[in-house]
Amino acid sequence: MEKQIFEILKGRRAIYPEQFNDEEITPEAVQQLLEVMRYAPTHRLTEPWRIHVFMNDEKTKLAHFLKNKIDEAAGKPGKGERTVEKFERSQAILVVGYQKDERERVPEWEELAATSMAVQNLWIYTRTMGMGGYLSTGKATIDGVTEYLNLPESEVVLGIFYLGRSTHIPRERPARSVDEFTKWYL
Ligand SMILES: Cc1cc2nc3c(=O)[nH]c(=O)nc-3n(C[C@H](O)[C@H](O)[C@H](O)COP(=O)(O)O)c2cc1C
Repeated sequence: MEKQIFEILKGRRAIYPEQFNDEEITPEAVQQLLEVMRYAPTHRLTEPWRIHVFMNDEKTKLAHFLKNKIDEAAGKPGKGERTVEKFERSQAILVVGYQKDERERVPEWEELAATSMAVQNLWIYTRTMGMGGYLSTGKATIDGVTEYLNLPESEVVLGIFYLGRSTHIPRERPARSVDEFTKWYL
């Protein structure tokens, strides 16, 4: 069991839209995936994570809105088209963010931290569900999505999670040894 969990954690990887296949993901399957976010740790139970799911025509509409924003930010056309292609290859786009606590019971970084942990849950679980994806945090995309959704100042977008079906297993990546990031006081 311990070994299995270790392998699952090690197997969480960034899977890019080029590695997605064409198999459908239903809204029900996305819902099932999102369930694991509920169990992330959260200080004072603020449960700050917020997700906006885009699929089908709504995904296409958002892609074209972002294309223009990304091209504007880059100062030349081309980069936005790449985003449209990634949207097309994805079954769903999850806009990931957090809600600041109106009562300021916890500092904002804790809302960000709790949301990151919820994303980690989701990211790990994609593999179990035969899916893959990655978090993308380009500034033009974040600004564009925030504008598109007309979000209040209290809701912060962290990025978008491209989601698709995939069985791709990436090459192992280098990862620092425990000794490189740990000091022991025994
Ligand atoms: C907070 C955060 C932001 C990220 N933003 C991007 C991004 O904008 N574009 C990108 O290609 N990958 C992004 N990634 C994915 C990383 O590039 C990826 O996790 C890294 O290469 C390690 O690979 P692995 O996830 O397969 O272990 C992001 C990851 C994190 C945790």
